[in-house]
Amino acid sequence: MRKKIVAANWKMNMTQAESADFVATLLLELGEVSDVEVVLVPPFTALAKVTEALAKSQNVKVGAQNMHWERSGAFTGEISAEMLRDLYVRYVVLGHSERRQLFGETDEIVNRKVRAAHEAALRPIVCVGETLQQRERGSVEKILSLQLRGSLTDLGPKELAETVIAYEPIWAIGTGQTATTAQAQEAHAFIRHTLCEISDEATADRIRIQYGGSVKPDNARALMTQPDIDGALVGGASLDARSFAEIVKGAQDLP
Ligand code: PGA
Repeated sequence: MRKKIVAANWKMNMTQAESADFVATLLLELGEVSDVEVVLVPPFTALAKVTEALAKSQNVKVGAQNMHWERSGAFTGEISAEMLRDLYVRYVVLGHSERRQLFGETDEIVNRKVRAAHEAALRPIVCVGETLQQRERGSVEKILSLQLRGSLTDLGPKELAETVIAYEPIWAIGTGQTATTAQAQEAHAFIRHTLCEISDEATADRIRIQYGGSVKPDNARALMTQPDIDGALVGGASLDARSFAEIVKGAQDLP
């Protein structure tokens, strides 16, 4: 049984005050959710505020949007896994397509970060996904396989089982153009098949695979009902506490 995981990727949005308001509304809207893991992923500058605002909540965790792979040193502008741990951060999004496309992150860099995250007991959410061009050329599986194998190199079964994969087709991010449930399920099944090749069936069965790309309250549940879709990584619709709460509720009471 894989527990559903729904994460709010705020990207470069939300001040401390806005974050605190968001958490207060979210907790009111959600009440106690125990069958869904909820993760808020604010910018670095709001991490402490979100943790503080969540003090009374058992079920909502905090994640970061990025980190550096070294523990400390002369890396101006960077943040280490230990620093995130120091702020009670539990998850870290790595290899988001915006980091790959705008900041030149390669699978090798993502892999260094993934390994450093595990060493610090942070759980990585590793993003993979194809461009529209790659989909039209029929190379979705090739791209996903390369990204997964490159980003997950040298991880043991325990680390893999504690890694979350986010399948985010780049053409669906922020465009309002969601993948159909069939397209998403097909990609997720392929990802699980690849994870099985990288490790073994028992491990692959434990790894949670989120879908991301224009997830909204009205399409989230249908996506998360698919057998290999174990949750959602939500961008735009996660900036509003009520709409994010609706998406979380859509993940409740699913097999
Ligand atoms: P979106 O972003 O929900 O705004 O499409 C998803 C993401 O980039 O994680």
